[in-house]
Amino acid sequence: MEIRERWGNRSSFILASIGAAIGLGNVWRFPYICYANGGGAFLIPYFIALITAGIPLMILEYAMGRRAQAGAPSAFSFLVSKGTEWIGWLSLFVVMLIFLFYPTIMAWSLNYAVHSVTLQWGTDTSYFFSNLFLQQTAGPGILGGIRWPILFALAIVWLAIYLILFKGVKVVGKVVLWTVTIPWAILIIMVVRGLTLPGAIEGLKFYLTPNFKALANPQVWLAAYGQIFFSLSLAMGTLIVYSSYLKKESDITNNAYITSLANCGTSFFAGFAVFSSLGYLAQAMGVGVPDIACSGFGLAFETYPLIIQMLPFWAQFFGVLFFILLLTLGIDSAFSQVEPFVAGFTDKWHFSKNKTLVIVCIFGFLIGSIFTTRGGIHWLDITDYFTCTYGLTLVGFLECVAIGYIYKSRKLREYTNEVSEFKIGKWWDVMIMIVTPLILAWSFIASLYQLIRYGYGGYPKWAIFTGLGILVLIIILSIILGKIGRKEE
Ligand code: PHE
Repeated sequence: MEIRERWGNRSSFILASIGAAIGLGNVWRFPYICYANGGGAFLIPYFIALITAGIPLMILEYAMGRRAQAGAPSAFSFLVSKGTEWIGWLSLFVVMLIFLFYPTIMAWSLNYAVHSVTLQWGTDTSYFFSNLFLQQTAGPGILGGIRWPILFALAIVWLAIYLILFKGVKVVGKVVLWTVTIPWAILIIMVVRGLTLPGAIEGLKFYLTPNFKALANPQVWLAAYGQIFFSLSLAMGTLIVYSSYLKKESDITNNAYITSLANCGTSFFAGFAVFSSLGYLAQAMGVGVPDIACSGFGLAFETYPLIIQMLPFWAQFFGVLFFILLLTLGIDSAFSQVEPFVAGFTDKWHFSKNKTLVIVCIFGFLIGSIFTTRGGIHWLDITDYFTCTYGLTLVGFLECVAIGYIYKSRKLREYTNEVSEFKIGKWWDVMIMIVTPLILAWSFIASLYQLIRYGYGGYPKWAIFTGLGILVLIIILSIILGKIGRKEE
């Protein structure tokens, strides 16, 4: 039998997990989801999601991977039952949808790093983003041809992902040390400048004032759980495969606490930069913060450039630095999306790792090029919405049921406690067996109902059904893959 790859030491595992977690999800996705779901209205469900699902599921996935010493599908079939293997595959197909679009956002960042040299976006950053940079079409029905600068950048991003993964997990641990620590420093500069903009306070009020009425809206809850899953890289096989490279004696709970708190702290902090500049924009336009007509999905590409533009000195320098750092933040997340997908196939069928990796990278680039068209942003938005809201929460729900009821959460808790510094109590079983699945089931069904009735984002019905269709398709594919026989060792 082939010997499983191992992390160099404990800190490379923890750094790699933090690297997988902290990414565009914190700096780009969190602020936009938070804004779209009412700012302060979103924060309460978000923190509840962190405590009830984020931390407990992270412990669950670490424990599963370490125990099973395999990627998600094999871990389910080995630990829980053969019949649950498809849940593992489903998590891999969800992460596949994510790695089809995530590198495009990195490709935008790469372009923006170049545009920073001349501060190309001028003072109207929204106009620049939609009309000059993306040359956005009117709707998802019109693709409008490739935007070559974005496609070119996408090729570079995929090449980088390939090269890093080709070297194996030990390198991942080393790369991440830089890709996580340096971006924090630049984020601090952005927040300080954001907070000192005129009108910033209005933006912060919108960000931080809770709105209890919104708690009755299932969409906000689903978005919050989806964001927690996305941001902590849960329900996607990433953490299962990362912890399967752990040595037997490594700790679980401590790592889970550190990763999740570092990650959510970063999102919360990045929110200050974005919302303070939204306050500034609202004041300049003479409207309220919720009424700024910005593109939601591209929010980060409108607000950060604005802050950069307003920096009193070295604006170009900080601009280039910021977008390069966004890229470095993204890269360790991007390869942590590709790795579990590749491992799923190599663990089950013992394919050559390198060949599988090449095929996956080429596939990712080719399909991902759809998002580099002028109509690509609509498809990015639709794919992101369906995958990260419905897809991730569905997998999260299934994980809770499989471990909570079939495998028995008590057994996994006892195993975790044997190897961990911090012991987890019975509260963990309550979260995995009752609280999280209940909230997820309610918000999933109620949101689906709202979606079918009212649609999403003003997109035509056929686009919504395409999104739903893709979800159904990956469920069917997962069930098929779960059933296909295992090649004997
Ligand atoms: N958590 C990453 C981020 O916030 C994204 C990610 C998704 C990483 C899936 C790994 C797996 O950007």
